[in-house]
Amino acid sequence: MTVGLVLRPARLDEIAALSALCARACAPGNGDRTKTTIDRDAVTAHRTFVVDRGGEALGVAQLRPAGKEAVLDLLVVAPESLGRGIGRLLYAWALGAARALGASALRVTADERTLGFFEHMGAQLERRGNGAGKVLRASLITS
Ligand SMILES: CC(C)(COP(=O)(O)OP(=O)(O)OC[C@H]1O[C@@H](n2cnc3c(N)ncnc32)[C@H](O)[C@@H]1OP(=O)(O)O)[C@@H](O)C(=O)NCCC(=O)NCCS
Repeated sequence: MTVGLVLRPARLDEIAALSALCARACAPGNGDRTKTTIDRDAVTAHRTFVVDRGGEALGVAQLRPAGKEAVLDLLVVAPESLGRGIGRLLYAWALGAARALGASALRVTADERTLGFFEHMGAQLERRGNGAGKVLRASLITS
């Protein structure tokens, strides 16, 4: 249910609130990713986007150029807002933003809880490994 959801760039004045959202979403029991801080430079460069309803941020994603690729450093949805299409909106933004950066692929590291989501979004698992992080890629090259 995406009615009333707005996708917009993150603002510098909400970095603390977004970091708190990440910490809450990634707390033990919700997720186990270590990256829970919002990078100020990524906000300034409009590489951090928020899904907002009525002025409240319900999800956030952050992108970083890395060589020929773009890396999705963070995709977080508030625990009480899961299953409403917010993750899909943020992932679609990330694909578009990565394309706009001229990246050949979007790279994501997932844990066991988010792996299924990224695969469902079309990203392909690159290596499974024994550790917590699973690297996936979505190719942005169309032929
Ligand atoms: C990854 C995640 C944040 C996605 O957020 P979301 O807003 O709930 O996802 P959406 O509602 O946009 O779901 C989009 C689609 O992905 C599917 N999906 C969502 N999570 C999934 C998962 N873990 N495995 C497989 N499919 C998943 C949904 O069923 C939906 O499918 P459909 O549109 O084809 O019916 C969330 O699913 C999740 O796993 N959260 C775990 C805790 C967390 O927040 N971790 C990140 C910080 S540590």
